[in-house]
Amino acid sequence: MSKPSASLLDLKSLSLSQIRQLFSQAKKIKTESLPYQATGQVVGLLFFEASTRTRMSFETASHRIGLSPILLDGGIKSSLEKGESVEDSILNVAAMGPHCLVIRCGDSVDLLTLSKKIPCGILNAGWGVKGHPTQALLDVFTMQETLGSEPGAIEGTKILFIGDIRHSRVAASHFEISKTLKTQVAVCAPSEFMLESSLIKKFEDLDEGLSWADVVIVLRCQFERHQSEFKTFSVENYRKNYGLSSSRAKRLRSKALIMHPGPINHGIEMESEILSDPRCRVLQQVNNGVFVREAILRATLEGTL
Ligand code: CP
Repeated sequence: MSKPSASLLDLKSLSLSQIRQLFSQAKKIKTESLPYQATGQVVGLLFFEASTRTRMSFETASHRIGLSPILLDGGIKSSLEKGESVEDSILNVAAMGPHCLVIRCGDSVDLLTLSKKIPCGILNAGWGVKGHPTQALLDVFTMQETLGSEPGAIEGTKILFIGDIRHSRVAASHFEISKTLKTQVAVCAPSEFMLESSLIKKFEDLDEGLSWADVVIVLRCQFERHQSEFKTFSVENYRKNYGLSSSRAKRLRSKALIMHPGPINHGIEMESEILSDPRCRVLQQVNNGVFVREAILRATLEGTL
């Protein structure tokens, strides 16, 4: 079996120096093609919920360093179809001795308890609404790259989250990392999508929020997570009051950044025209996802995570 590797389940336990180290590695990987050979080692990619960006960027990053990915994708043709539980599936793949497991799953799965039962680390690749740490890391890496500063120096940067904050694991991870990086966060959303926390700055009016922000992160309306209380939700009203269009984006300063973790509901939370706004970083985020995730995989192989 591989030696035990650390888990990355949330961002609360990642220090500023660890974040700096990961970003420094990701930058070298991106700009200098830093060589690495993990031949003979295996990573399990277990995706119990849909994914394109996270799964394929972990897969790409694995291939880039010779780490062999084994894939359980959405349960198709797996023993989940025969009634095996997600937990048993994870324990059984872990028993095959991979170096680490990259897991996307729902809130009902207790990754924390599982991480104590299995001999390898778990990298959270999107866990219900609890968190999506690698997405928040690649977002901050993209901000830092574009704003031209070191991670410590994005202190004070004003980040506005627009939209379905209540169901967003991406926002949850950003709220964690913002405490370490000392960035300022604020939210703008209709009441159905708002958090109950009174600790987070809130904007009622999107135009005011846009004038305040250095970075906006537009969130996907997660229709698949909405319960009966959303029956009265009007997509048309949402688009009108919270959708980001080119005319709305005029409120943003010229050096502001527009981000979205994807996938995008075109014409709902964001108009397609925003993708050609020079401030928009959506595909840069995706590109950086490969390098940041490669840096995370290398750190787990080296035992430095
Ligand atoms: N941002 C993100 O997690 O995208 P996927 O669901 O496609 O992985």
